[in-house]
Amino acid sequence: MAEGSQLIRGLEGVVAVETRLCDLDGANGRLAYGGYNIDDLARRATFEEVCYLLWYGELPKPAQLDKITTELIAAREIPPALVDGFALMPKDTDPMRVLQAAVAILGMHDRETTDSSHAANVRKAVRLTSQMATAICAHHRVRQGQVPVPPAPDLGHAANFLYMLAGTRPAPAAVKAFDASLTLYAEHEMNASTTTTRAIASTQSDMHSAVAGGVGALKGPLHGGAGEAVMRTLMEIGEVANVDGFADRALRERRRLMGFGHRVYKAGDPRAAILKGMAEEACRQSGQFKWFEMAVELHDRIGRAKGLIPNVDFYSAPLFYSLGIPVDLFTPVIAAGRIAGWTANIVEQCDDNRLIRPRADYVGPKARPWVAREQR
Ligand code: SDX
Repeated sequence: MAEGSQLIRGLEGVVAVETRLCDLDGANGRLAYGGYNIDDLARRATFEEVCYLLWYGELPKPAQLDKITTELIAAREIPPALVDGFALMPKDTDPMRVLQAAVAILGMHDRETTDSSHAANVRKAVRLTSQMATAICAHHRVRQGQVPVPPAPDLGHAANFLYMLAGTRPAPAAVKAFDASLTLYAEHEMNASTTTTRAIASTQSDMHSAVAGGVGALKGPLHGGAGEAVMRTLMEIGEVANVDGFADRALRERRRLMGFGHRVYKAGDPRAAILKGMAEEACRQSGQFKWFEMAVELHDRIGRAKGLIPNVDFYSAPLFYSLGIPVDLFTPVIAAGRIAGWTANIVEQCDDNRLIRPRADYVGPKARPWVAREQR
């Protein structure tokens, strides 16, 4: 093993960077962005305010909020070549694979792609946050054989996302729940996808390349893909009365239950608690309360049987479903929130960079003499 190093699988508990973005207290189930508690941010801040906090380190004053809001609205257009590209992609392509390609294509069209200065990175953070939302919605329309819904300049970020997705203006309650969801997903310290974006940024590549890598990491069901998997589990169960039987089988088969467990949170994921309340309201409003009831029942059964906590993806699933978001867009929606944190981390990494390069412990055959081909 390399001199003075030790094997820590999955880098569990390893502190790799210093950050001013996210304070994650896993033992006590607490989370804050820039010192502001997640509960306050989810209930009282808009996603635009949270973006500003992550990119500038402070909650915006009114004039600063107006400016960042205007910049985000102005940055919503995506290149026509990207929309044309959606039409050429196989209709059944995983939307996360489409999003990864879309980010790379946006990088081809961005005039500051190779400029990793602080100011350029913050400008690219704004553009990517707005353009990714437009790209997700535009692709969804194209794959259904419809034309994309142009962004509505009079709507805020969350409302405009729902509008571009459905083609109708969303109800205020839906906007509030979706806006809070984007905030809850915006940033989460050194999770797998943020670690990926930082590692790519640390090579002095560029923000678009780093975000494309982050999308690839988030896609996995152990990470951002869990939300979609939770909804598919609830759909597999089908009715509240079936939860007990499902849980018995899953526990007997030692099945990995999506939406449960967390690498850092052991006492509870504070985001899940907030999302639970939002999911209850949204499921009731949409007349699909059974999904919430099933989630609560499953949470109770698995919690009692295995002591596993529900994570952020457990209650966001019935919430997103009741907001009319297609199940295979759950992870792209999570990416639409986490882009704020990814870009903020990339800015931080570029501002004080050190190449991210851990070691490996070689456990293969020790030095062996060469064997000529005819003697193998
Ligand atoms: C996110 O890191 C972040 O911050 C991520 C995130 C963010 O905002 O970026 O919070 C978002 O990704 C949330 C997690 C979403 N993923 C899932 O819901 C997938 C299901 N969860 C698990 O796969 C698991 O809990 C992880 C991957 C989230 C964490 O796994 P760890 O820390 O590697 O723990 P582990 O897999 O080693 O499990 C420890 C024990 C094991 O028991 P043994 O095999 O040792 O007896 O707990 C069990 C596991 O079997 N366990 C589970 C389980 N999670 C852990 N058993 C059943 N179902 C589960 N979900």
